[in-house]
Amino acid sequence: MEIVIQPTAKAATSVAARIIARLLQEKPSAVLGLATGSTPLLLYRELIRMKLDWSKVKTFNLDEYIGLAPTHPQSYRSFMWENLFRHVNITKKNVHIPDGQAKDIPKFCAKYEQQIRATGGIDLQVLGIGTDGHIGFNEPTSSLASRTRIKTLTMQTREDNARFFGGKDQVPHHCITMGIGTIMEARQNLLLAFGANKARAIAEAVEGPITAFNPASVLQLHPTVKVCLDPSSASLLKRADYYRWVYANKPAWQQF
Ligand code: F6R
Repeated sequence: MEIVIQPTAKAATSVAARIIARLLQEKPSAVLGLATGSTPLLLYRELIRMKLDWSKVKTFNLDEYIGLAPTHPQSYRSFMWENLFRHVNITKKNVHIPDGQAKDIPKFCAKYEQQIRATGGIDLQVLGIGTDGHIGFNEPTSSLASRTRIKTLTMQTREDNARFFGGKDQVPHHCITMGIGTIMEARQNLLLAFGANKARAIAEAVEGPITAFNPASVLQLHPTVKVCLDPSSASLLKRADYYRWVYANKPAWQQF
């Protein structure tokens, strides 16, 4: 894991945006895995500002609530079109977001996995992290080998997301999420976390044991993970000084 601690969330986001911009320049037909929530909002704003060419890019979103109409303002489909897709030249058929209203959800999930495979796999997966360590909506105790499927959200996650819905009772209980096994197959993972409420989950994921109790900790087994943090989310890391030194002293050949 490469831990990049920047002075602000904006600066950490701009490192992440540069990594994605370089990928799209090197591989215009790249396959991106995308996240929703508050964390990637700045990232999407920055990517829009960079005026990149999205015409050949394919995207797969991590997750979607079950039962929300695609037009519901809190559906992740609405989120993605509102905050990214409508501002860039992406081709609609290249956008993939789990269908939370699919009649046969297991069949839909198998097809989603198959669609990812058919593109040649995800080049770069953007991840946020839940306060309970979830990635995608793989809640604690999710199988570390899981594939795209239905999950039940924890009370913690529903409380965390109540801010978007005007109360936790309106937050759906179920979702479709890419599995941890699916995420681990991305060629590169880019995890962003900002704010003190993410500090414990980040410390456990980066420096704790690999455990399904903090699903993000499995990323320690992935060969190419960058973790972009602000000082608050990094505040419980024991080796923060080391990570800062490594990033500040990267040889030219190792820059990104
Ligand atoms: C969203 C997702 C989740 C969020 C996480 C953090 O697509 O996969 O794992 O990244 O719940 O959410 P925020 O960024 O709102 O704190």
